[in-house]
Amino acid sequence: MVPEDTIRAALPQALQTVDLPNCGPKEQGKVRDCYTLGEQRVMVTTDRQSAFDHVLGLIPYKGAVLNLLAEFWFEQTGQIIPNHMICVPDPNVLIAHTCQPIPVEMVVRGYISGVTKTSIWYSYRRGEREIYGLRFPDGLRKNQILPEPVITPTTHGGGAGGHDERLTREEIIRRGLVEPELYTQMEQAALALFHFGSHYVKQRGLILVDTKYEFGLYQDKLMLMDEIHTPDSSRFWKADTYEERFERGEEPENFDKEFLRLWYQERGYTGDGEPPAMTDDLAVAVAQRYIAVYEQITATKFHPFSYPIEQRIIGAVAAATV
Ligand SMILES: Nc1ncnc2c1ncn2[C@@H]1O[C@H](COP(=O)(O)OP(=O)(O)O)[C@@H](O)[C@H]1O
Ligand SMILES: [Mg+2]
Repeated sequence: MVPEDTIRAALPQALQTVDLPNCGPKEQGKVRDCYTLGEQRVMVTTDRQSAFDHVLGLIPYKGAVLNLLAEFWFEQTGQIIPNHMICVPDPNVLIAHTCQPIPVEMVVRGYISGVTKTSIWYSYRRGEREIYGLRFPDGLRKNQILPEPVITPTTHGGGAGGHDERLTREEIIRRGLVEPELYTQMEQAALALFHFGSHYVKQRGLILVDTKYEFGLYQDKLMLMDEIHTPDSSRFWKADTYEERFERGEEPENFDKEFLRLWYQERGYTGDGEPPAMTDDLAVAVAQRYIAVYEQITATKFHPFSYPIEQRIIGAVAAATV
């Protein structure tokens, strides 16, 4: 674990954004600064924290944790499906193959849970049994494991503020968003990745509750892009207390950023209006959680570095792209 003082000292210098020279125009997502260098995409994972589709503050070390965790998973899952990673020249940087993004996000869920309007539980508790074009049995309880993991696809707006819209397999095909054959490949890859990830984290004492994958085409072939099995794209629960808590009707112990969402919800913020200012204590707690997830999953220590990191990143990218 990284000492609290180290995180606190880094707060004023956490990475908001970085301007890379000679890399063309910067494309900003909520969390990443991206540059396209022809076939290659330079992706800098910053310390920006998003929730409810808004950037709410900066979390020291969060960018590196996300990027290094994605690197870990890309290495682990390369046999299942090719992914976009070329190299990681800096803890905060991933150089990737530029893909032609497929406008459907593949959300895979192993449990019936969630509070947002796109969650299955949201519809199920209102009596719906056909959700995302899938049939669900009666008698399921909140947070129960599903008989099989399911795919609940949503649109991918690809821009800040674009809210995810529910889709079904049928609609995706009918609207011509993805060719049937390619979509079948995406389903198979998503389920295989989820199966691998669930099994892996289970041995590390965690449950992979649900996650999101993004795919693209590279040289006309399906490729996994963006990030994989990070706390930004996934939810994790602690495995050892799950059963007992579920039986008692209690919420599982989260091991992700759910407590951040709760912090905002308790203060009346769920995405609309002005968010309350993030406190230093909250930022430190979130940093500790991200680092803990990294250490738990990879079974390695996270090595903190000193801030500021802008020059380090610029140097690493320059060296990697000559
Ligand atoms: N290999 C790739 N080729 C093209 N686009 C990609 C690739 N990997 C990720 N992307 C896109 O880059 C952006 C990453 O930035 P991010 O901050 O995660 O965005 P968002 O706010 O959409 O989550 C996303 O729009 C993602 O779809
Ligand atoms: Mg993203």
